[in-house]
Parts: sequence; structure tokens; C-alpha cells
Amino acid sequence: MNESVHIAVMTSEVIDALGTRPGGRTVDGTLGAGTYAASLLEATAPDGSVLSLDVDPGALKRARERFAPYGKRWVGVEANFRSLDRIAEERGFRPCEGVVLDLGVSSDELADASKGLSFMKEGPLDMRLGPRANEDGLTAGDIVNSWSRDDLITVIRDYGEERFAGRIADGILRARKAARLVGTLDLVSVIRSSVPRTYEHGRIHPATRTFQALRIAVNDELEALRDAIAAARRILAPGGRIAVVSFHSLEDRIVKHAFKEADDLVPITKRPAIPSEDEMTANPRSRSAKLRVAEKR
Ligand SMILES: C[S@@+](CC[C@H](N)C(=O)[O-])C[C@H]1O[C@@H](n2cnc3c(N)ncnc32)[C@H](O)[C@@H]1O
Repeated sequence: MNESVHIAVMTSEVIDALGTRPGGRTVDGTLGAGTYAASLLEATAPDGSVLSLDVDPGALKRARERFAPYGKRWVGVEANFRSLDRIAEERGFRPCEGVVLDLGVSSDELADASKGLSFMKEGPLDMRLGPRANEDGLTAGDIVNSWSRDDLITVIRDYGEERFAGRIADGILRARKAARLVGTLDLVSVIRSSVPRTYEHGRIHPATRTFQALRIAVNDELEALRDAIAAARRILAPGGRIAVVSFHSLEDRIVKHAFKEADDLVPITKRPAIPSEDEMTANPRSRSAKLRVAEKR
């Protein structure tokens, strides 16, 4: 896809919270559609710089064209944010004044059926955001077709906070006895036939939580987040700030505790900031966003 459809969340709040100044160096751990990167380049003009990472090669491809006019001020690297300290060191961003992470997937990735992230589109049961998203090549298909009942229940319950995890695991086991689960819509129909009919009429699609759970497991998202916050602490200059936008309670809890427990960080947001009413109306995806900020001592 060449044109990005992703709408970034809380952009001005993030840029303000980072206290970005002309000449500053910022590490943008989640490039996505490049909206934060563009605002950071503007806020650090004329000579500040931005190092953007993403595991999705598509995000880098689009951004390379877009940010070419900025020359050396923008550096893009296809990499996992869990090693942002190493990459920052290699690229001259250690120390830096700001680190930002805007977690989860972009609308561009959801729209890309080949990644298998959407329960609305037929695609392979893959769910890796990119080749560097995990080290073992694990896919959603591997999980649903080979994991034990107990392991399936644990992942769906713990990462999806899905109350019907047991029934869904049983449905998956029954289905895979007959044939290997291959496509996203195969899995959607297994989930639909495993949960009570009333779930169909609920606030969210019955496959939402299971898909979230599998995506988190495949991309090792929670461990990657812990590693990234630890890595950010190693590269931030004193007084530098880290801002994290999260989209579900598992992530927000990790950020909250990591900020609180780190003796070299002072949490700036006691309660997480949330988008304005206007933003929530204009961009429904923003409704679950939470922004937390901390400052390096
Ligand atoms: C919500 S989007 C970011 C949008 C971005 N802030 C913008 O301004 O457009 C999240 C991005 O983070 C990337 N991502 C997710 N996990 C990652 C990881 N462990 N390392 C690097 N990038 C990751 C995804 O591929 C996706 O492009």
C-alpha cells in the first residue's frame, strides 16, 4: 500500500509532553504512518533529528520517500524497538532528549490482508508485523494448530482478557482435528461457533479479544515493551522524557509500573492523559488511547 490510511493519536499532546525543542534528538520507536516523526521534525527544526524504528518494512518504505527532503535529520531503521538503545548508539542518538512509543498496530497494517491481523478480512493466520517482530518465526497458525488446550486458554485469557477462553480453545481443538486452520476467517467462524450467541450482539466483535491475544503472543509485545522502556532509560539524557501511548490495560499496566519502579525515572503523568472528546469523535480508534510520560532524573 502506498498511501497511508493510519490516523495517529494524541500527536500534539505527545510532542508537547516530550518538550521537544529546536535542535533536539528524539527516538521514535514506532514510525507507523510517520505522523509523529513529521511533527518531531517540525518541532526540532532547523537542525534537530529523529531516529524512527519500525518492524514493518512497509512503514519504512513509505517514510523513506516522504522524509527524503530532510536529509540527515531523519534516520529510519527497520528494527524492533526492544533494541532501541543499540540502534541509537550506532546512529548517534545516545544520549537523546526524547523517546516515544505509540504501541500496537497501524491501520495500514490492519488493512494489509497479507499480515492476517484483521478478523474482517480473509488472510493467512500469520500476524507477524514484520520479519523482526519475533525471533522464532512463530505465527498465529502455529499457535492455533499446535499449542495444547491449556496453553491456548492461557494465551487467550491472559492476553485477550477473554472470558470465553475455555470454550474458544475447545472449539479450536475440535476444528483442527478435522483440518488445519489456515485462514483468518476459518478462525473467526470457529470463535463464532464456540461462544454464546449473545456475544454476537455485544459491544465488540466476538473475535476481537482472541485476535488481540494471538497478535500479542506472536509479536511478543509485552516483553518487547518492557525491554524498550529499559532500553530508553539507558539512552535518555538527564531531563529527557519518554512518552508511551498504549491501547489496552495490559500495556498501560506495564508502562505505569515500569515508570514507577525505575529509580532513574520520575513519572510526569500521575493519571494517564486521554484524547479530547473531539479527537475521540473524529477517530474512534483513539478511544482506548492512554498517554503516560516520565522524565529521566
Ligand atoms: C500505532 S502505530 C504508530 C503510528 C505512529 N505514531 C504515527 O505517527 O503514524 C504502531 C507501529 O508500531 C510498530 N511496532 C509494533 N511493535 C513494534 C516493535 N516491537 N518494534 C518496532 N515497531 C513496532 C507497528 O509496526 C506500527 O507501525
